[in-house]
Amino acid sequence: MKKINMVLAPIVDASIEELCSTLFPECLKIADLGCSSGPNTLLVVSDIIAIIQNTFRKLNLPPPSLQAFLNDLPRNDFNTVFRSLPGFYNKLDEEHENKSGPCFIAAMPGMS
Ligand SMILES: C[S@@+](CC[C@H](N)C(=O)[O-])C[C@H]1O[C@@H](n2cnc3c(N)ncnc32)[C@H](O)[C@@H]1O
Repeated sequence: MKKINMVLAPIVDASIEELCSTLFPECLKIADLGCSSGPNTLLVVSDIIAIIQNTFRKLNLPPPSLQAFLNDLPRNDFNTVFRSLPGFYNKLDEEHENKSGPCFIAAMPGMS
């Protein structure tokens, strides 16, 4: 866990476990409203992906595909976020030994 704190982690964990063990989704969508554009921007998404991967492994389900939607105000530097994506995908492959499902990231400027 890098960004999701000790208080929040068990809540996210339990919600994802409940969702996965009742609906068995093949695709999960994550929205980060107010994602910013610094070095921390994709850490929340990474943490949530790690929880999803662990939960699916525990439930013996194949890894789902993931869609992450990033949103912030129009002045946010989305180009920086997009430039960081190759590094993010490499790290994802390393951390999950190329076993995670496909992950697509989209960003939308606007007031959420
Ligand atoms: C405290 S920062 C959090 C940044 C990042 N999520 C993090 O945890 O490091 C809040 C972010 O919310 C964005 N924000 C504020 N009002 C917003 C709105 N109405 N719609 C979308 N983003 C908004 C700001 O531009 C800022 O990037």
